[in-house]
Amino acid sequence: MSYPQVRMRRLRRTPAMRSMMQRVTVRPSDLICPIFVDENVKGAAPIESMPGYSRLTISGVVDEARNIMGKGVKAVLLFGLPRVKDEKGSQAYAPSGVVQKAIFALKKEFGDELVVMTDLCLCEYTSHGHCGIVEKNEVENDATLEVYGKIAVCQAQAGADVVAPSGMMDGQVEAIRAALDDAGFDQTAIMAYSAKFASCFYGPFRDAAECAPQVGDRKSYQMGYGNTEGALREIELDVNEGADIIMIKPALAYLDIIQAARSTFNLPIVAYNVSGEYSMVKAAAQKGWIDEKAAINEILTGIKRAGADLIITYFARDVGAWLNQQ
Ligand code: PBG
Repeated sequence: MSYPQVRMRRLRRTPAMRSMMQRVTVRPSDLICPIFVDENVKGAAPIESMPGYSRLTISGVVDEARNIMGKGVKAVLLFGLPRVKDEKGSQAYAPSGVVQKAIFALKKEFGDELVVMTDLCLCEYTSHGHCGIVEKNEVENDATLEVYGKIAVCQAQAGADVVAPSGMMDGQVEAIRAALDDAGFDQTAIMAYSAKFASCFYGPFRDAAECAPQVGDRKSYQMGYGNTEGALREIELDVNEGADIIMIKPALAYLDIIQAARSTFNLPIVAYNVSGEYSMVKAAAQKGWIDEKAAINEILTGIKRAGADLIITYFARDVGAWLNQQ
């Protein structure tokens, strides 16, 4: 049968019918809210390139977590800005490091009500801004793995529920799993940034976290974006190394990768709706060029429709009753 017997518009006639026909919806509990905790600030410090977003003190982090939990969001992903950076990024695994303190404060306040996830990387902690240990101008893979293991244990000791390695070193998931298990943290989960592409859309984040590499770029460890098979191979390796959750990052220019991963793997899939994707929407909305809430709905629904179970997004703190209304 076809037109005129078939009329697709029949089921689009009223708002109630349209809502009934919506298959993909976004729950606040699908969202993970990134938070920047900064040891150098006395109060919220707005991030110029990310309108509406700030770097926070530890007590600011607790307030922010309370705010998003009030909206039904259940998880945060912490990034730290230490007072001092050095060659080896030692503040990343100092028990008194800023992220460790923030984890502790969140767990003390909210216990198991909040899922505390931590970015596990060196770039915010190293003076050179690379995600690993640099020797003779190269990012040394295996020397970095040892340090990642130390960071993981330190974050788990502070109370992290999930650690999220984002450095794209080979073997990082296996090394972190082994370090956690050896230290008795067999219940700490690993959310692997498995297919992380070298992307210009991280620009605002590097401002926010002050972690742009001082020399060179990240292309020797992050993936080139013209390659689906390579992304699936990265994911497969992480699955075999023991990842609990796999991630694709960024989200919007990579919806096909999310879909390919969905049809290949049965682990939970997270998409990272990154800083540049956030700031583009905010900037256009500020100019009055797009409807911000409608854009957020369409973007988050699109990412879920592609196959993501969870979305890390700076919009998590903006969600309201308008979520899912088309
Ligand atoms: C650190 C890290 C980055 C992001 C998350 N973890 C930056 C980078 O790889 O340069 C980007 C997040 C965003 O843009 O929202 N390794």
